[in-house]
Amino acid sequence: MSKKVKFQTPTGMHDILPEDQFLYEKIWRVVDDVAKFYGFGKIDTPLVEEAALYEKGTGGTTDIVEKQMYTLKTKGDDILALRPEFTPGIVRSYIQHGMINLPQPVKLYTYGPLFRYEHPQAGRFRQFHQVDFEVFGEQSAALDAQIIQIFYIILKELKFSHLIIEVNSIGDNQCRPYYKKLLSNYLRPRQNSLCADCRRRIRENPLRTLDCKEEKCQRVRSQAPQLIDHLCEECKNHLKSLLEFLDVADLPYHLDPYLVRGLDYYTKTVFEIFSDKAMATNQPVDGGEETVQRNALVGGGRYDGLARLLGGKDVPASGAAAGVERIISLMKEMGFDSGSEPLAKIFLAQLGDLPKKKSLKLLEEFRKAKIQIAESLGRDSLRTQLARADKLGVEYTLILGQREVLDGTIVVRKMDTGEQQTVKLDKVVEEVKQRLKK
Ligand code: HAM
Repeated sequence: MSKKVKFQTPTGMHDILPEDQFLYEKIWRVVDDVAKFYGFGKIDTPLVEEAALYEKGTGGTTDIVEKQMYTLKTKGDDILALRPEFTPGIVRSYIQHGMINLPQPVKLYTYGPLFRYEHPQAGRFRQFHQVDFEVFGEQSAALDAQIIQIFYIILKELKFSHLIIEVNSIGDNQCRPYYKKLLSNYLRPRQNSLCADCRRRIRENPLRTLDCKEEKCQRVRSQAPQLIDHLCEECKNHLKSLLEFLDVADLPYHLDPYLVRGLDYYTKTVFEIFSDKAMATNQPVDGGEETVQRNALVGGGRYDGLARLLGGKDVPASGAAAGVERIISLMKEMGFDSGSEPLAKIFLAQLGDLPKKKSLKLLEEFRKAKIQIAESLGRDSLRTQLARADKLGVEYTLILGQREVLDGTIVVRKMDTGEQQTVKLDKVVEEVKQRLKK
């Protein structure tokens, strides 16, 4: 006997049901408006890229490349990966289309789904959406500040009130190698007090030990030398300039010397944006011992070496991405409602086969006239249809029966008084338009 199969969405992936669509649409609308105002052009890149793009771009020692990529082999033996982030794909596109020959800076933005094979938990999914902004060809910290400001504005437009911007500089090729050595020298004799991941990170990427969420690792790091004290002149000035821009733009930031971010390509500026509300919602991970630390809504920074690493020229760049599901979950907590959903003021009730057939064309005439109209084509009884119209709170119900179809008429019923009038079927859209105007 065959077992009954019960299909579910894959772990960590979710349907977006009709009742939640308005939240996504609201975000896309705000993002498009802000992007247009600040001169960003929309770009869409493929959902899959060569896996090597991420191995090289995102970086071999990152969690994304080590553990989280969905890779696949095509029939032609190409190794592709579902995109785990936007940045390497957008840099690839910038190089591929010779955007270096355009007037700089080139400002691009996008949004869409991404895939990471994560341990699913609150605010962490295997398929999720990001809004992503990138600027190419400009070294000035002004652009880092503008990227931060843009995400701050987007969140404000979505009614977030208490936002915190954490910033740091992780230096560049001049100063970081020396600091890494300094940090490894500090960590090595203390490795027994670190978690297994951090013991491994001492060799591979000691900076990552700084943002480890384990308490024992945080104890060790509290005495560690700080990168901010070892920045080269250029990085120091860049950071100083960034903070000045943030001050003048009234963006409330906090300098966090332990913020390093989990991606390999950053140089100088790194930042994350949190909501106070997000901090209050820390909750235990399913079945795990760790607790979810506050989830960043936005993460980004400067990445001056990535274009060259991916085969292009030296192009300074800066950007960031926001996690859409994290934003939506807080919007829901804040009671964000659809508000602007068009509510039908008219209901079309039909009685019988012929009227039902006529209804399809009539509904389309109302759509063309931009009049929202509700119906219940699956129902036959007038009583049920009127009850539904009542529930929707419409002003008028149009009643189309067999006789009306034959006469080329329709009944217009005013719902609050019950008053009815018969009008010509081919004039009903105009008639309703006039009545709604009153
Ligand atoms: P990221 O920090 O990996 O950076 O991701 C940015 C944001 O995406 C996070 O702050 C979070 O809100 C959201 N996010 C990340 N992973 C997940 C997940 N598994 N489930 C739900 N939300 C998630 C980047 O992706 C960089 N490409 C950002 C960037 C652009 N840097 C420069 N340009």
